[in-house]
Parts: sequence; structure tokens; C-alpha cells
Amino acid sequence: MTAPDAAQSELTRLLELFWHPVCTLDELRAVAPRPLAVTLLGRPLAVADLGGTVAAVDDRCLHRSARLSVGWVDDGAFRCGYHGWRYAPDGTCVEIPSLPDGPIPPKACLRSYDAVVTHDLVYVRIDGAADTVPPACPALDDTTMRVVAGAPYTWPVAAPRRVENFTDLAHFAWVHDGTLGRRDRPVPPVPVVRREGGEMRFEYDPPEMESEAVALYGHSAYRMPMPCTVDIGFDLGGGVRRHLWMTASPIDEASCRSFWVVARNDDHDGDDAPHLAFQDVILAEDEPLVTNQDPPEMLLDPGAEMSVRTDRVSLEYRRWLRELLAALDAGGPAAVAAALAADRVPEAAAP
Ligand code: FES
Ligand code: CO
Repeated sequence: MTAPDAAQSELTRLLELFWHPVCTLDELRAVAPRPLAVTLLGRPLAVADLGGTVAAVDDRCLHRSARLSVGWVDDGAFRCGYHGWRYAPDGTCVEIPSLPDGPIPPKACLRSYDAVVTHDLVYVRIDGAADTVPPACPALDDTTMRVVAGAPYTWPVAAPRRVENFTDLAHFAWVHDGTLGRRDRPVPPVPVVRREGGEMRFEYDPPEMESEAVALYGHSAYRMPMPCTVDIGFDLGGGVRRHLWMTASPIDEASCRSFWVVARNDDHDGDDAPHLAFQDVILAEDEPLVTNQDPPEMLLDPGAEMSVRTDRVSLEYRRWLRELLAALDAGGPAAVAAALAADRVPEAAAP
């Protein structure tokens, strides 16, 4: 296997500045009162609803390293199952049962992380220094839309590679012949890619397709809240709009968990199943390719893989990731925030 490029750990450091979903609210509730064990960017975390506050801490008790995720939530805090140490949402140890009169060592404080619930997903941010926000999903706030969540899935591939696949226009003809693309139309358009409000944006018009599935064909507006989210708005004509939103949460450098929803402003009373089933067909087509990229890690060195002009979206995505990495290196998290906020609108399609 090719060695991952040298930028890997820096990429992890960059991704630590962003919010990523770690589980659905249902998944959290299903294990309560136990905390849920998750991994984000290589860190094992214990996540729990501590009674109105969702909290995330390192999943390792400071005493003898038992996982807090095999303990339970007790009086708004994490209770370790081994000797009962109890940790407040901010990670501070507030009780050592074998020492009822104390003292609690002043250093007995677990690392805790920013955690928030939005749209039934629990998001965690490792490092708040860049003042980032959870990725937008406008369809979820749009009351004209019926929103249906798909089942999250874990693939052994880096989150940025998952994002690239989602926005790769040249693979439709090959991987999705007959569903999203046509083998007899292998030349995709090369879109103008803009940067606006911390998102990459471009438009795409698919070829005419014949399918009886509940398919998403029509003028497609792509928004990519950096670094790991894609929201595609489909205009099916006649006022019918659909959305496909996906965020790839980086479990580590070589695997990710995708959380996704579909939304529609028509057919509110209809069956949701066909809308999800079409995506399952697409995922089944993508999986054998995307999970067999070797290495699974994202390669950001421009010489690491060959690109051609029809890779425009990927090239622009990698370019922005490299610029964010350079900003982090040169000016720290504040420079990343500035590099995210800098819009760039090309005047015309590049040649
Ligand atoms: Fe957690 Fe001892 S290992 S209390
Ligand atoms: Co695909």
C-alpha cells in the first residue's frame, strides 16, 4: 500500500476545527443510560445526554482507564463503572466514592469537547478555536419539505474521499450507468466552482434518463459546506424540489460514517420508502469503488494522483483543503476561519 502523504496528520488537525456528527439522537437514546462509544478523528469518545445537555468526553477514566461508555449516566454526570468516579459534563471529576471526604486531585479533569444536537444529529467539535458552525442543511429548516433520514453507514475510506465521490460528475456514466448517468455520455460538463459563505457551489444538469425509480434528475445545485458536507438541491420542474444532504464524519484518517437525509416538497403523504430506496441503489453502486481506493486516506499532494480537466470539482475541493491547511500552518485557527470566509466567484467557466 502506498504510504499516506505527509499532510495526513495536518489534515486531521484541520478537521478537528469543524463540527462533525457522531451519532443520531436515536442511537444515543437506544443505549441510555449508558453513554455511547464513538470515534471521531481517531479519538474514542463517550457521548451522553446528561439530562438536557449532550456532552462528549474522552472515553477513558483517569483512574484505571476503564471506558466511561461502559459506565452510566448518573445525576447529570458520567459515572465510571469500575470504581464509581463521577465526571461532570465539562470533564471535571466531582466524586470519588472511596474518598467521601476528598480530596479530589485537582488534575482529575477529563478532556471534554463541544457537543450540540441539531436536526436529530449529535455533533462534536474537537477544537473550537476557529469558531466554526455545524454544516447547514436548509431543507431541514424548510417547512415545505418532508425530510426523511437514511440509515447512516460506515465505509473504510477517508471522509474527504467520500465527499469527492458524492460530487464527482465523471463517475456517473461508469458507476451509475442507467441510474444517474449513461455510459454513452461519458463527457461530463466542467462546472464553474464558486466559494461562497464557506461552501463550494456549482450547478449540474444531468443527461436525460429513463428510470421508473424515484430518481433525482433535474437541474442540480450543489452546495458543499466545507469540509465534509454536500447538499444537492434538485429542481425537477413544475415547482417540485428535492434535496439530498450528506455529511461524512471522519472516524479516523481512513474511515468515515455518512449521515444523510432526503427531502421533498411534493408527495408529502406518499411512501417514504421509494425515496430512500433509490439512494440505496446508488450507494450499492458506489461502495465497491469508493471503498477500494488504495490508500483509503485522502491524498492532497498534487502529484499523488493524476487529474484531468473533468476533475474540476475535486481539484477545486483539494485546492481549498490545501489552502486551509496552509492557513492553519501559517496563522493558526484564526487564519483558517479567514480562509473559509473568503468568497471566490470565477467570472466565467475556466477553459
Ligand atoms: Fe474509573 Fe476506577 S477506572 S473509577
Ligand atoms: Co456515485
